[in-house]
Amino acid sequence: MIDTENKTANRDFFSRWAHRYDHRFFQFWMKRFQDPVYQEIDFTRKSSLLDISCGTGELLKELSEQNKHRRLILKGLDLTPKMVKQARKKLSSMAKISVGDVHHLPFKSNFFEYVTSTEAFHHYADQHKALKEIARVTKPGGKVIIVDVNFFFGAIHRLFERFEPGCQKMNNRTEMKRLFEQVGLTNLQQQRSFLFAVMTIGIK
Ligand SMILES: C[S@@+](CC[C@H](N)C(=O)[O-])C[C@H]1O[C@@H](n2cnc3c(N)ncnc32)[C@H](O)[C@@H]1O
Repeated sequence: MIDTENKTANRDFFSRWAHRYDHRFFQFWMKRFQDPVYQEIDFTRKSSLLDISCGTGELLKELSEQNKHRRLILKGLDLTPKMVKQARKKLSSMAKISVGDVHHLPFKSNFFEYVTSTEAFHHYADQHKALKEIARVTKPGGKVIIVDVNFFFGAIHRLFERFEPGCQKMNNRTEMKRLFEQVGLTNLQQQRSFLFAVMTIGIK
């Protein structure tokens, strides 16, 4: 799928879904996939975090609730304006959210201590370029945390690639590690996140 087709497919899909995305049944699963991210954040240190493909802002909302001392500055970005609208409504001044594309991040290099992306990486048209951008905006020594769907079997991944709108490529653990290594991220760690996702972490 070429870049513009992929973006249009994603925008259309998530625009249609935006007003129902926070449905309890769906969020029950999404929250469990996001859970291990919070353990990776040091809330006592002054730092900043960018959540890419923040969707309706559920991860940012939980982070802002855990951010008792307000030391962590929160930002979010998503491709789909309707998802961003929901996130802004929910978060008001707790996080600054912008509309944007992971392949062209509107942030300075070496800026964030943490960059996260949950359940979105398989939607990115050029995953190498996306991760290179993510690494670019991360500070040296900062953490890149990607949680993405992983259903154990390649055959299930191929079905998603075929039938889920905007799905570009679902990766297994080895492919994710390889992508992280290619953009120079180090100290790689991986762990299963609840049932159907894997979290990959790298240090810049
Ligand atoms: C399944 S949702 C995940 C939302 C949220 N992170 C969560 O965990 O619930 C995928 C999100 O990726 C966003 N997205 C897709 N392609 C993108 C791109 N190229 N740049 C930024 N965001 C993108 C979509 O707009 C959508 O909000």
